[in-house]
Amino acid sequence: MKLKEEINRRRTFGVIAHPDAGKTTLTEKLLLFGGAIQEAGAVKSNKVKKSATSDFMEIERQRGISVATSVLSFNYKELKINILDTPGHKDFAEDTYRTLTAVDSVIVVIDVAKGVEEQTEKLVEVCRMRNIPIIVFVNKLDREGRDAFDLLDEIEQKLKLTACPLSYPIGMGYEFQGIYNIWEKNVNLFKEDSRKNIEDTIEIDDLNTPELEDLIGTKAAENLREEVELVEGVYPKFDREAYIKGELQPVFFGSALYNFGVRELLDCFVEIAPPPMPKEGDERIVKPEEEDFTGFVFKIHANMDPRHRDRLAFVKIVSGKFERNIPYLHVRQDKKLKFSSPNAFFADKKAVVDVSYPGDIVGLHDTGNFKIGDTLTEGEKINFKGIPSFSPEHFRYINNDDPMKSKQLNKGITQLMDEGVAQLFTLEMNGRKVIGTVGALQYEVIQYRLEHEYGAKCSYEPLNVHKACWVDPEDEDNEEFKEFKRVKQKFLAHDKEGQLVFLADSAFSLQMTEQKYPSVKFHITSEF
Ligand code: G4P
Repeated sequence: MKLKEEINRRRTFGVIAHPDAGKTTLTEKLLLFGGAIQEAGAVKSNKVKKSATSDFMEIERQRGISVATSVLSFNYKELKINILDTPGHKDFAEDTYRTLTAVDSVIVVIDVAKGVEEQTEKLVEVCRMRNIPIIVFVNKLDREGRDAFDLLDEIEQKLKLTACPLSYPIGMGYEFQGIYNIWEKNVNLFKEDSRKNIEDTIEIDDLNTPELEDLIGTKAAENLREEVELVEGVYPKFDREAYIKGELQPVFFGSALYNFGVRELLDCFVEIAPPPMPKEGDERIVKPEEEDFTGFVFKIHANMDPRHRDRLAFVKIVSGKFERNIPYLHVRQDKKLKFSSPNAFFADKKAVVDVSYPGDIVGLHDTGNFKIGDTLTEGEKINFKGIPSFSPEHFRYINNDDPMKSKQLNKGITQLMDEGVAQLFTLEMNGRKVIGTVGALQYEVIQYRLEHEYGAKCSYEPLNVHKACWVDPEDEDNEEFKEFKRVKQKFLAHDKEGQLVFLADSAFSLQMTEQKYPSVKFHITSEF
C-alpha cells in the first residue's frame, strides 16, 4: 500500500472526560464493537481510584496497567484506529495535555446527570486552543439525568462549543426507550438485555411513520417529533469542514454500559473524523505525506517491568515511514539512533513492528536519551511545537536527605523531569531546587521513585507560590526589565530549559507586578 493510502486509513484520537463519566467503559465498548476484544472487562481500568491516593503501591500497580492501555489499536471498516488513553485523575492532567498533542481528534464523555464537570472544562479548553476536532458523547442515558436541551445549553455555555446533535434521546432513566439517530435518520430502540446482546436493536427509517407510536407509545412519539423538529430548527446542520476546523461539535447520546449509542458513535466517527493532520514545526509545517520520516516524543513511561529498569518513549509519527533498524536523527542531541525493537500497540498486547505510518504510535526502548517533546527525523533539524509546560499548582523545595547520594538524587530528578512527572525550577538567588506539580500525589511518586530507582532520599519543604509565570521581556536590556530582575530577584527561577520564570506568591502580587512592569509579559505556559 502506498504511503498516502496508509495515512488515509488511520484515525488517531483520545477519549477525555471527568473521572467517572465513563471514559474507560466507552473505550472498552469501542473496542468491543470494533471486534478488537471479545468480551467486556478485557481492558482494565487505568484510573487511580480515589481510595488509592494514599496507597503508593496501588499507584504503581495502576501505572503498570496504564502502560498496557496507553495506546489501543484496532481495525474497523478498512480503517486503522488508534485510541490514545488519557489519565482521568486530575493529578495527572499534565500527562493528558501532552497526549492531546498526539491526537488528531477527541471524543469527550459527559455524564448525563452531572453535566459538564471541572476536568472536562479544562481539557476541552486545551482542545479548543489547538482547534482539535471534538465529538461529544453524553453517557449514562439509562439513568435519570438532566434534560437534553439543558445539557446542550451547558455544552455551549461552559465548554464554549457549537453543539450539533447527531442523535437525540427518547426519554431517559426509567423511561429511556432509545435514540433517534439524526445522522443516519433512524430510530434505535433500547432493550433491557442490550448489555449482553450488543447487536440486537430494532431500526426504523422514518420518524413520521405510524409504526413509531406502536414502538414507543403515542406520547413519546409526539414528544420525539416535536423535540427533533426543535433540534433541527435551533442547531446548525452538520458541516464536516466546520467540525474538522474545530468550529462545530457533533453530540451523541447513549449508554456505554448498556452498549447503547456506541455503534452509532463509532460509525459516524469513522466517516467524519480526520486522518493524520499536518503539524507545525519551528521552521515549517510538516505534512504527513512527506516521504521523510519525522516524529516526536509525547510520553515517557519508566520501568514497567521492575526487572528491567528501562523506559519506553512513545513517539507519534508525523510524516513518512518509520522503519526498524534505520538510524534516525535525535535533533536535540544531534546524534543518530536506531531502534531494533520498536513496539506497536494492539487492544490486548504490544509487538515489535517493522514499519509504522503517520498517525501511528511506536514505543521505543530508551536508556535515558529522550525527553518529552524530542523530535526524530531523517536528518532535518526541526522541532515540533505544541508541548508547552503549564504552570504547576503545587510547589515545594526538595532537599537531599542523604548527602552521600547527591549524584544519584540529581540524576533521578533530571530523569523524572524528562519523563514529565513534574517540573523543576532552580532559584536564581541561591540555586535551591523547587519541584512544581499539578497534584499533591506526584510528591509521593517522586519520593518513592527516587528511593527505589535511584537509591536517593529526599524530603520537601513548603513554599508559598501561587503560579509560575514564564517571563517574556520586550527587551532584555531595557531599564524596566533590569529593575524587575533586581526587585523580584527572590522570586525568580529558571526552568529545566533555562527559561526565566517568576514564582508569584499570590494573584495580587502577580497583578501588581504586571502593572508595575508593563513591558514585561508573564505567561502561564512555557510556549508563547
Ligand atoms: P472513567 O473511566 O471515566 O473514570 O469511568 P468508568 O468507565 O470507570 O465508569 C465510571 C462508573 O460509571 C462505573 O461504575 C461504570 O460502570 C459506570 N458507567 C459507565 N457508563 C455507564 C452507563 O452508560 N450507565 C450507567 N448506569 N453506568 C455507567 P462503578 O460502579 O464506579 O465501577 P464498576 O464497578 O461498575 O466498574
